[in-house]
Amino acid sequence: MARQRWTSRTVFILAAVGSAVGLGNLWRFPYLAGKYGGGAFLIPYLIALVLVGVPLLMLELAVGQKMQQGAIGSYQKLHPSFVGLGLLALTSSFIIVSYYAVIMAWSLIYLFASFGVPWSDDAEGYFFQEVLQLSDSVNSLGGINWSVLFSLLFIWVLVYFCVWKGTKSVGQIVRYSVPLPVILLGLLLLRAVTLPGFLDGWAMYLNPDWSALLNPEVWTAAFSQVFYTLSLAFGIMIAYGSYKDLDDDIAKDTWITVLLNSGTSLFAGLVVFGVLGYMAGQTGIPLTELAASGPGLAFVVFPQALSLMPWSGIFSVLFFLMLLLLGIDSAFSLAEAVNAAIIDRHRQLSITKISIIVCCAAALAGIIYTTRAGLYFLDLVDHFVTSYNLLLVGIGQSILVGWIYGAEKMRRYINQVSDWKVGKWWNVSVKYLIPSILATLLTAQFSTDLRIPYEDYPAWALSIGWAITILPSLAFLLLLMLNQKQKEA
Ligand code: PHE
Repeated sequence: MARQRWTSRTVFILAAVGSAVGLGNLWRFPYLAGKYGGGAFLIPYLIALVLVGVPLLMLELAVGQKMQQGAIGSYQKLHPSFVGLGLLALTSSFIIVSYYAVIMAWSLIYLFASFGVPWSDDAEGYFFQEVLQLSDSVNSLGGINWSVLFSLLFIWVLVYFCVWKGTKSVGQIVRYSVPLPVILLGLLLLRAVTLPGFLDGWAMYLNPDWSALLNPEVWTAAFSQVFYTLSLAFGIMIAYGSYKDLDDDIAKDTWITVLLNSGTSLFAGLVVFGVLGYMAGQTGIPLTELAASGPGLAFVVFPQALSLMPWSGIFSVLFFLMLLLLGIDSAFSLAEAVNAAIIDRHRQLSITKISIIVCCAAALAGIIYTTRAGLYFLDLVDHFVTSYNLLLVGIGQSILVGWIYGAEKMRRYINQVSDWKVGKWWNVSVKYLIPSILATLLTAQFSTDLRIPYEDYPAWALSIGWAITILPSLAFLLLLMLNQKQKEA
């Protein structure tokens, strides 16, 4: 069977942008900017984007397009011993999609509740007690929260119908699901700039605090954000690249994706901080406190701000609809990364069948997050996957392409097919900068986690986290050694 193809270049770009633009743009970016020096955060962010983000995205798209395979097959073709690197990337995808869908399930519950704005009296209580029914600690599972579970099932049906015909169904969906949330964001911006106090929010968002640049933590945050926001090291961009033709452009598509994604982040920051500025004025809670709420921003602080406005029901509907639409392209891109790798190996299976298996398996894995201790597990798993597994894959692929396959060889291929030529700086980035920066981040995180147990979770819970990092890494090493032995024999 011939490999699937994107129906057009626009569809490919929409799909790549759809994967990149997600919850990370809406709350993670604004929250980091607020926390780390406002406008000054843009400097490390932009540096990280150019030094690591652009070259790595280009690398993944080029690998997929050149090898015409998903992550496992592509790495294996680059060097047979690296088959395990694909496994490492895809286990991250699988783990992340299983909880990413749960966050979308919460958004769905909020969407249905939006008309009545039931959180107006106590947004925090509504989220933790009503919606999540959160238990006291990770030690008490507290049974299944059925409304979250049903909502999760519904999300999986949606995701399934996005990927069930591969690039064909994805292509039909992204035409709407990518531009629409940006339009909704525009409507929310119009609302924000008609609220008193929005300028105070913007002042905090955009006024640079230059001293922040001296704080190493700011730089770590900028590099991790770039990694996360471009959906790197999940095998997604490799799978998406593999549905392009061998002679399609790479460099220009990379820059377009990066610019659209970061543009959306900046834009989302204006909305979030505009609304927070208003809320600070109404409630007297300092802006710094509101902005520092992190993940709670989407489900506690922002809903509360919405409830303070006139027409709160309508704007709440718009907001949660936007959240769902932002999330869905990221969710199905993760599923698609796994699908692509399975299809490469089992040509006789149809895409529809593989999609059913992958979606059901990920939905089953997600049940743990629908228990009343779900939020604790989600936080724990997210911490380990994004702090370790992703960075390991990033280091692995830069070594594989930069040193083993040859950065110069890959750069020549990229330049052969692209309108905009890529200079030798790309080789330097792939061979030296990316592995050393990522290794530094990894070591820093590791030493922190060894000194301070993450969020004071009990040892049994932390060992689940470590297992998520260590087991796939061991599998990778084992496969590497086995293949090496085989070759020598
Ligand atoms: N890029 C997405 C965001 O910014 C997150 C994501 C990461 C999605 C990995 C898919 C895979 O929200």
